[in-house]
Amino acid sequence: MGETAQFTLRAMMQDDADAVAAIEEKSFAMPWTREDFWRETKNELATYIVGELDGRLVAYAGAWVSFNQAEVMSIAVEPEFRGQGIGTILFGELIKAVKARGATAITLEVRPSNAAAIKLYESFGLKSVGRRKGYYIDNGEDALIMWNTRL
Ligand SMILES: CC(C)(COP(=O)(O)OP(=O)(O)OC[C@H]1O[C@@H](n2cnc3c(N)ncnc32)[C@H](O)[C@@H]1OP(=O)(O)O)[C@@H](O)C(=O)NCCC(=O)NCCS
Repeated sequence: MGETAQFTLRAMMQDDADAVAAIEEKSFAMPWTREDFWRETKNELATYIVGELDGRLVAYAGAWVSFNQAEVMSIAVEPEFRGQGIGTILFGELIKAVKARGATAITLEVRPSNAAAIKLYESFGLKSVGRRKGYYIDNGEDALIMWNTRL
């Protein structure tokens, strides 16, 4: 990140949809569009956070909260800034935000091949509890289902 770079976090706004969708596009085989992110800014169940490095949007994460359960929708960091702790800061903030909305448990699906993401989630107490067979339609890969029920 560089020693003098400023990393800041804030809630995602409608105007962020283009920048978020651009990172999404570089990160996922089946990316959401900017319209999807627009919709998320109006979704009352949704909580999305963006991370900015010297004012440039470089990361985002979002979840839906329903009763006491949070479901992570997405997390991604601009490729050139991965592996520097941004994902960890962002996921920590997302957990704080869903707890503030009453979540006591968090769940998500992840590809078994996604070692970096699995490591990140495990560091926040999520554990793999099962699989959804052939969940990812682009390559037929299973999804690992992870939970932390004691947020
Ligand atoms: C997953 C992702 C958000 C992590 O963000 P990041 O800023 O790179 O994460 P961090 O630098 O905070 O690292 C998190 C952990 O992953 C580990 N890690 C990072 N890159 C890794 C890699 N390529 N392989 C294995 N582990 C890796 C780190 O060592 C760290 O673990 P540690 O705390 O034990 O050291 C980022 O890699 C990304 O955007 N990936 C593409 C989108 C994606 O797959 N999202 C998740 C979908 S479920």
